[in-house]
Amino acid sequence: MDLGTECWARNGEMKNIISLKVPGKSKTCAVQLFQMNNLQLGNMDLEPFDIITCDGPYGIWPEYGWPDSDWDNFDLNVSQGREEFKEYYRKLFTASLKYLKDTGSLFVFNYPEGANLINIVLYEFPVHFRRWISWIYDNHFDFDRGTNFARSHETILYYTKNASNFIFHDHIVKDCFFHPLIKIESNQFNEGAKPLKVVEFLLDVTNHPGGRLLSLFAGTGTDLIAASKYDMDSVGFEFNADNFQQLVGNLAKK
Ligand SMILES: C[S@@+](CC[C@H](N)C(=O)[O-])C[C@H]1O[C@@H](n2cnc3c(N)ncnc32)[C@H](O)[C@@H]1O
Repeated sequence: MDLGTECWARNGEMKNIISLKVPGKSKTCAVQLFQMNNLQLGNMDLEPFDIITCDGPYGIWPEYGWPDSDWDNFDLNVSQGREEFKEYYRKLFTASLKYLKDTGSLFVFNYPEGANLINIVLYEFPVHFRRWISWIYDNHFDFDRGTNFARSHETILYYTKNASNFIFHDHIVKDCFFHPLIKIESNQFNEGAKPLKVVEFLLDVTNHPGGRLLSLFAGTGTDLIAASKYDMDSVGFEFNADNFQQLVGNLAKK
């Protein structure tokens, strides 16, 4: 599909902002991609969002010695690392939660050990903790092989802005979701892309057709692609230039 791409870069500020039109279920959805640090959100003037998704640092790189990832270098095994991790999320939520609508939802992905700290931070903010969701996979046993219980689930923290009057469609849905750990269909992205079905599981009950979703860590664009399936416009932040190019390509292919 011709996406009617509008593209401009603000040189000097290392910014790239791309607007795309992608087909939704029954409308064309607007997607805006920002190649910049999501902490800059605080100084922007964005329309409010119905859903905010957050798939940021897990604090896993020091433990597993994964390659240069200066955005996820928190060591949760030591108290200084845990404090830095909490401070990072404090700044992120200060910058972003002001854009969450009164009826809106927030989803935060992490391992349980990181989710535990993020949940403590989020008690400082005007959001209502609703559920600790587990995404369970049993096709991946590489981490901690032979030295710990094999990791086979991740956490998705679910919050709403208010304790009542939020969007939750009338489904019976359990707080454990079973789906294999896979990379988004046919791409080479190597930094923790979430399966589309996991995000769809969340949006199935909280979507707002015609509304807006903010993906704080857009990566490959899973959240944005899922949003369009529910006729939602979306905004994504991705500061890594290579990932940003891939993100634009993934959306453009849609
Ligand atoms: C775990 S991945 C997100 C994957 C995404 N959920 C998906 O399914 O593709 C995190 C992404 O956020 C980007 N990132 C990390 N810190 C960022 C920041 N402060 N601002 C913008 N992007 C950031 C990284 O470059 C990486 O691509």
